[in-house]
Amino acid sequence: MDNLRSVTHMENIRLSQDRRSLIIADQTKLPNSHEYIELKTAQEFYDAIYLLKIRGAPAIGVFAGYAACILGAQGPMDSAHAFIAHLEKQCAYLNSSRPTAVNLSWATGRILSRAKELCGLAPEDILPRLFDEAAAIHDEDMDMCRRISEYGLSLLKDGDGVLTHCNAGPLATSRYGTGQGPLFLALEKGVKLHVFADETRPLLQGARLTAYELHKAGADVTLICDNMASIVMKNGWISACMVGCDRVAANGDVANKIGTSGVAILAKHYGIPFYVLGPTSTIDMSCPTGEDIKIELRPEGEIREKFYSQPMALPEVKCYNPAFDVTDNSLITAIITEKGICRPPYAESLKALFE
Ligand code: MRU
Repeated sequence: MDNLRSVTHMENIRLSQDRRSLIIADQTKLPNSHEYIELKTAQEFYDAIYLLKIRGAPAIGVFAGYAACILGAQGPMDSAHAFIAHLEKQCAYLNSSRPTAVNLSWATGRILSRAKELCGLAPEDILPRLFDEAAAIHDEDMDMCRRISEYGLSLLKDGDGVLTHCNAGPLATSRYGTGQGPLFLALEKGVKLHVFADETRPLLQGARLTAYELHKAGADVTLICDNMASIVMKNGWISACMVGCDRVAANGDVANKIGTSGVAILAKHYGIPFYVLGPTSTIDMSCPTGEDIKIELRPEGEIREKFYSQPMALPEVKCYNPAFDVTDNSLITAIITEKGICRPPYAESLKALFE
C-alpha cells in the first residue's frame, strides 16, 4: 500500500516556501531518475512546458496557475493597472508554449480574471489572493481526479484487461490521474486488472511514465509498442480502453496524444468500449468541433533521433510530427468527468454539465 500511495499522492508540483519558484519532477528524466528541478523565470517556465518537463493537461494547468502568480510578483508593484498589464503579458507568453491542452489557457485565464476582479486593491493585496486561486486550482484537481477515478472504475470489473495510451496518471495530474486514475483506484480497492500500456511514440510517455507509475504502484502492467494494440484486442485481452484528453470540443470530439484516434478505430472494430476521462476544465464549449482544435506540431528530430543511440533516419528525410490527433465523437463510448459519465449525443450531455 505504501508503494501505491507514494505513486498516487506523489508531489510533482510544489510552490517554494517563499513563493518565488516552482519545484517539479522533471518528467523528461523518467524512468531512469526521479529528479526535481526548481524554476523561477518566464523562460524556464515556458521551456519546462514546451520540453515536456511538466506535461499532461491537468498538470500543465496547475503549473501554469502558480507560474502566472510568480511572474506577476516579478512585475511592477506601483499600480494595479501596471501589475495586471504585466500579468496579462506573462499569461499570454505561457499560453504560447503549447497550443492544444486547453487547461493551460484555462488556468492562466482564471488567475487573470481573479486579478481583474481585484483591480481596486493594491498589487501587494492582489498577489496573495492570486496564490490562493492557484492553490484552489491545485486542490480542485486532486478532488476531480479522485471523482473521475471512481466513475471510471465503476465501468470496470475484476479480471478486466485495459488498454491505455500516453500518460494520464499521477504525473500528468495532481493525484491518481484521469485516463489511468481508475487503474490506481482499482489497486487501492483490490480490483484485479491487467493493463496494457502503449509505448506512445515518439516521446514514449507510455513506456517512460505510465509503465513506470503502474509498475511502481504494484499493478499488472504489460508494455506494448503502439502497433501491437490490434493484436492484444484480437487476442481478447482487452475489455476496455481508457485515455485522457487535452481538449474536448462541444460535440464530443476529443484531442489527445497522437495515436489515440487509431486506438479508438481499432476498439470500434473489435467491439471494445473506448472511454475518455478528463476534468470539465478540459471541455472547451467555445470550440464547436475537433476541426477547430489547433494541433501542435513538434520538431522532426523527435522522430528521427530522439531516444536512439544513433539517428534512425537520414537527416534529409522529411518527418511529420503532430503531437495530438482528434478522435471522432462517434468512436467514443463515454466521456467521464468529475461531474459524471456523459454518453452520446455529446452535444447534449456535455452542455448539461455546465447548466
Ligand atoms: O504531450 P503530452 O505528454 O502533454 O500529452 C499528454 C496527453 O495526451 C494526455 O493524455 C492528456 O494530456 C491527459 S493527461 C491527464
